[in-house]
Amino acid sequence: MGFTTSILYGSVRSNRKGIRAVKFLEKQLVGRGHKVHILDPLEIPLPFLDKMYKEFPEGEAPANMQKIADTLNDSDGYIIVTGEYNHSIPPALKNMLDHFQKEYFFKPSGIACYSAGQYGGMRAAVHVRAIMPELGSITIPVILGLPKISKIIDENGNAIDEYYIKATSRFLSELEWYQEALKVQRGKGLPY
Ligand SMILES: Cc1cc2nc3c(=O)[nH]c(=O)nc-3n(C[C@H](O)[C@H](O)[C@H](O)COP(=O)(O)O)c2cc1C
Repeated sequence: MGFTTSILYGSVRSNRKGIRAVKFLEKQLVGRGHKVHILDPLEIPLPFLDKMYKEFPEGEAPANMQKIADTLNDSDGYIIVTGEYNHSIPPALKNMLDHFQKEYFFKPSGIACYSAGQYGGMRAAVHVRAIMPELGSITIPVILGLPKISKIIDENGNAIDEYYIKATSRFLSELEWYQEALKVQRGKGLPY
């Protein structure tokens, strides 16, 4: 079964490091035959939340919001790539997530977290674990932790430490299992 997967990333810092994780995951997904979208608030900015996408009459949402909604709708699952800012998730990531809701319904999310330090952004990942189900997307059990991000993945998204290729393969195998299961189930209809 083929999958379309969106990577949602949320650092808009000029010297951002998490883009390495995004590029790395994109390569791993493409290598497994996924169609990949990247939702990056630096490339497709949204204003601070005023109206959610669902509050606009059809066809009247701002262009970037419509583009993100279309991308989320086209996806069978998501990978949330979160850095850790003061033990929580980057504000641009939360802002992007909050604009949408039913676009995520009945689709799985994998959480990939990273940081400059040794804890790999795990405290932010725990927050993503709480947020995504509230948006209607179940999160898969495995969390992909990427500590010391600049030392394990280079700026082109290649692994410096081979361990992370193996860890990512396990993470993506699990995501695909849930993508397939929920895709089959969505094909039978939705409860609401
Ligand atoms: C505002 C801010 C808060 C941070 N807080 C944490 C933190 O709580 N824990 C941690 O491990 N690293 C923290 N860091 C360091 C980040 O892990 C590191 O800067 C990382 O590269 C941020 O991701 P980005 O480069 O993609 O923006 C923080 C960085 C920033 C800018």
